[in-house]
Amino acid sequence: MLALKPIDLQNEKNAAIVIPVCEDKNIHTEKTIINLVKTTETIKPFKGREDDELILYHLQDVGAPCVIFLGIGKAADADAEIWRIVASKAVKTGIKKELSSVSVVVPSAKKTGMEKERLIVSMAEGALLGNHRFDLYKKKKKLKPLKEINLLTASNVTAELEKLTARTALVCDGAILAREWVSIPPNDKRPARFAKLIIKQAKKENLNITVMKEKELKRKKCGAILAVAAGSQSKPRMLILSHEPKNAEKTVALIGKGVTFDSGGINLKPTGSLDTMKMDMAGAAAVAATMITLARIKSDVKTIGVIPIVENMPSGHASRPGDIIKTYSGKSVEIGNTDAEGRLILADAMAYTIDQFKPDLMIDLATLTGACVAALGEKIAGVFSSDKKLSKAIITSGERTFERCWPLPLPEDYQKFLKSEFADIKNLSSSRWGGAITAALFLSEFVGDTAWAHIDIAGPAYIEKADTYCGAGGTGFGVRLLCDLLPNLFDV
Ligand code: BES
Ligand code: MG
Ligand code: ZN
Repeated sequence: MLALKPIDLQNEKNAAIVIPVCEDKNIHTEKTIINLVKTTETIKPFKGREDDELILYHLQDVGAPCVIFLGIGKAADADAEIWRIVASKAVKTGIKKELSSVSVVVPSAKKTGMEKERLIVSMAEGALLGNHRFDLYKKKKKLKPLKEINLLTASNVTAELEKLTARTALVCDGAILAREWVSIPPNDKRPARFAKLIIKQAKKENLNITVMKEKELKRKKCGAILAVAAGSQSKPRMLILSHEPKNAEKTVALIGKGVTFDSGGINLKPTGSLDTMKMDMAGAAAVAATMITLARIKSDVKTIGVIPIVENMPSGHASRPGDIIKTYSGKSVEIGNTDAEGRLILADAMAYTIDQFKPDLMIDLATLTGACVAALGEKIAGVFSSDKKLSKAIITSGERTFERCWPLPLPEDYQKFLKSEFADIKNLSSSRWGGAITAALFLSEFVGDTAWAHIDIAGPAYIEKADTYCGAGGTGFGVRLLCDLLPNLFDV
């Protein structure tokens, strides 16, 4: 689907060639490209400013019938994210013109001040992610994705560069898989069904799969997962996927919150807060898609993905505020609010994971709190960890992938807000404030001394309107982040 090719415009029979142009500087080295850009200088309205666009047809010495010039703005301002956006724009323009393929010219890395590999990876990401939209439920698919995308480069297409783009394509496939799962409506992904969707993909790769159904969860005394699932007609599941390369010494565990619909339960959410709650399994989607991707890219890190899946519904069988439940860890929890369900299922999943697999490192991803969205907005995830190195590595991967993460604290003196008169701990804070923090502190009670980080993705997991290189729906947030992070985790 995505190929890296040398620039050869005469023989480029593709439907469209896209050339990025800066307003203040030539960013190309290949002669034919430089000449083509020169011809635009006489065309006044096109100056290479951000959002400028010029389309010329049937140019001399160009095999393709159409050349699209895209304005980038000032060269010095163009960073990796801008190149993702530019490549995505190129693809979207092609889609709008109902083309089936587009060839995008990669500028000179030197002239753009970027590392060559990073420039190519960024453009590949933008192009591939921008080529996806969720239209499973539309009879008429108005906009068809491109079948073929080429990145044209003036540098040698080495085997190494090809390997890198192939890896990028697999990682983007993973992000798209997560997007699709998150966008699927809640009536089509109740826990058993969602588990099956994951298993179907996982089976194609060499992952070990364990499925725990209700009976097994009862036997294992996962009381918190069972309590959250109790109100729903749909039975809970817990999936364990493992990728075990030979000779791996250390183990990473990834835990993903999988609430296929969060109604709030007996503490039913108000109208405006319900309609996007199919996205409350985005942590699970990111972890499952990452596990599948790790197998595809043959990651050399031993990784276990643990995914508790429930639906949070009100009914005569539902858990109530005031209920006291016994978690897998043995700790009792007073339910202060049935809408604080994510921390309950994660508590069981994490304690179980530590018992069973003794990971060297554990990271959970969860759409855990509205408070985190209030703090950091819809584009940035919150990171909580007492392990500074781990937290720093996550923030760095966030910068590299533009799946942005920001550190938030785990203050010991806030732990008192989770005290219960009757149980070991309560799932609701007695303070109105700092809800993302108290949720993370609740989780910290179930990880013992395992090195652990919690990533609250309630903001960036989902968008209601299409954005730079993501359509409306699930964003796939976390997959690119984790795939970037894992190879670097144990480097000292
Ligand atoms: N799934 C929600 C958090 C959420 C909110 C995700 C907005 C995405 C967007 C979570 O289960 C929840 O309901 N949290 C409550 C906790 C409260 C009851 C302590 C919240 O944030 O209001
Ligand atoms: Mg909730
Ligand atoms: Zn939730």
